[in-house]
Amino acid sequence: MRILGIETSCDETSAAVVEDGKRLLSVVTATSLDLHAQYGGVVPEIAARSHIESIIPVIEKALKDAFSSHELRAVSIGQKSHHSSPKTHSSFDPWDQIDGIAVTYGAGLGGSLLIGVLTARTLAIIKKKPLYAINHVEGHVYANFITETSLPGYVLSAQQPKFPMLALIVSGGHTQLALFKDHFDYVLLGQTRDDAIGEAFDKVAKIIGLPYPGGPSIAKAAESGNPKSFSLPKAKMPEKYAFSFSGLKTAVLRQVQAMCAKSYDFPSFKLAGLLNNYQKADIAATFQSTAIETVVDKTIQAYEEFKPASVVIAGGVAANQELRRQLTDRLPLPTEQAGGRQTCPIAYTDIKLCTDNGAMIATLGCFYALHKKPAANPYSLEIKPNLSM
Ligand code: KG4
Ligand code: ZN
Repeated sequence: MRILGIETSCDETSAAVVEDGKRLLSVVTATSLDLHAQYGGVVPEIAARSHIESIIPVIEKALKDAFSSHELRAVSIGQKSHHSSPKTHSSFDPWDQIDGIAVTYGAGLGGSLLIGVLTARTLAIIKKKPLYAINHVEGHVYANFITETSLPGYVLSAQQPKFPMLALIVSGGHTQLALFKDHFDYVLLGQTRDDAIGEAFDKVAKIIGLPYPGGPSIAKAAESGNPKSFSLPKAKMPEKYAFSFSGLKTAVLRQVQAMCAKSYDFPSFKLAGLLNNYQKADIAATFQSTAIETVVDKTIQAYEEFKPASVVIAGGVAANQELRRQLTDRLPLPTEQAGGRQTCPIAYTDIKLCTDNGAMIATLGCFYALHKKPAANPYSLEIKPNLSM
């Protein structure tokens, strides 16, 4: 079972081929990040235009990379039997190896989603393949099911997560805890009431003048800062598993104003210029540790309540090393029944698979196919920019 996955919900144009819901054969990603950096955030029109330019070459390369060894084999067979130029006699078509197409149809930027969905619909019709409509956020969770690849530079979990599985989803648009009883059978335990955690990283980075995207910039600056330089509030929510990050972002702004001896009516875009690098590092470290602690607190609480067999983290912020460190330190180690061995229920996927990519979409697409879920209508599949879990 091999699925081509297509992801274009934001600023990454990505395509990948995944086999049997676990083996990554190829992944190719083009990003328009550099074009957005000067504006401090993604400009939807620029993202959509970049998807148009990149989508076909990205898909073609993903297909080529996935089956390059097959092609070589086909070419050499052709060579032996015909004694002629390998190129002219290779009849290998990667599309013959593809069992279906999975595409992100929401949530995301409308213009960006349209390019991926219209491309996938067209390919599904002309190549006669089933089309699977994938929820981007569910897709993020499935990055954790990739356990094998011969592509260089990937550090993957040895085993797929087991059910029940607790998923902490932390990205630029989402902060959620979900409990999966099985594939396609989950409940949302809670989510953010305002900003997503990645959005808070991006906004705090902007306040202190660090480049977009804020997550990796904050993480880097935090390495040389003191995470206890001042105290920041952790939001107390009425619902057990709800999150809030807008108050934390405002608390950072007030702290920066105090450090710069400026009142709240001083233009906030001028504050960064008044901070030195030591102050920036301390702010980054203190913000990061508080934001991460907030999501880890609730993950541990849910872990203790539901006793899942596995815990996974998903989304761009799952690339954050402080999140991984705090979770590994604080998750209790259950003792396995057989053998009394201590095993940690959490495994982390490669950070390249945490941010948006086609591999996670292809992986969930494989499970749609393996579980015989109904395919979408390629003549009518619509985008859903506000799709929720
Ligand atoms: O999942 P993703 O690529 O796109 C969305 O679906 O939103 O996540 C992007 C978010 C951005 O907010 C980015 O700042 C954040 O993930 N991010 C990080 C790190 N790498 C990316 N946040 C914290 N630490 C990181 N290392
Ligand atoms: Zn995402």
